[in-house]
Amino acid sequence: MNRALPDVRLRVPTDEDAFAWHRIFADPEVMEFHGGKAAELSVYEELTARQRRHDAELGFCLWTMVGPEDEVLGFTGAQPWPRAWGPEGEIEIGWRLGRAHWGKGYVTAAALTTLERVRAAGVSDVVAMVRPGNERSIAVTRRVGMELAEVFTRPTTGEPAHCYRLAL
Ligand SMILES: CC(C)(COP(=O)(O)OP(=O)(O)OC[C@H]1O[C@@H](n2cnc3c(N)ncnc32)[C@H](O)[C@@H]1OP(=O)(O)O)[C@@H](O)C(=O)NCCC(=O)NCCS
Repeated sequence: MNRALPDVRLRVPTDEDAFAWHRIFADPEVMEFHGGKAAELSVYEELTARQRRHDAELGFCLWTMVGPEDEVLGFTGAQPWPRAWGPEGEIEIGWRLGRAHWGKGYVTAAALTTLERVRAAGVSDVVAMVRPGNERSIAVTRRVGMELAEVFTRPTTGEPAHCYRLAL
């Protein structure tokens, strides 16, 4: 892709960002592959607090993406894979964007910055876990050079979970 990527700032999520994430992700399209309905505010309070701990301990986390007008766009970044199945012990990169901001290259830009930052932090490879059918997310993995490496089974639903990987 030859277009210049848009500017996007990445910051460690603040307390207030939990409210922003809750507000912009309360959208059935955004949540289609995350249970289909809005998550409670408490989910984002826990998630943002956990990211502040990751930043302090590891030097990276799922960052809040901030757009040109200082508006919260979503999150992109990296964290230790948080579940007791799948790529345990690995660093996962992930992304979620408010619906109004899809189609502008923000996540590709933020994912490339994430890869630079985690490489600088000494991480040797990253994974991304994507549900089959989440074509927009699969397109992001492709744009940053990841390849499908493994298929896990979600213990809760028995559904496949595709694990994309990139050596840094
Ligand atoms: C997955 C998700 C983050 C992808 O968002 P996205 O906007 O498609 O991805 P990007 O920000 O990388 O933007 C790429 C799009 O912007 C377009 N674009 C516009 N200007 C661009 C530029 N300068 N550079 C790159 N792409 C640009 C691309 O053509 C592409 O659009 P297209 O697919 O319609 O052709 C978003 O759909 C989302 O949040 N989904 C819900 C949450 C989710 O499922 N998360 C992933 C869980 S694994």
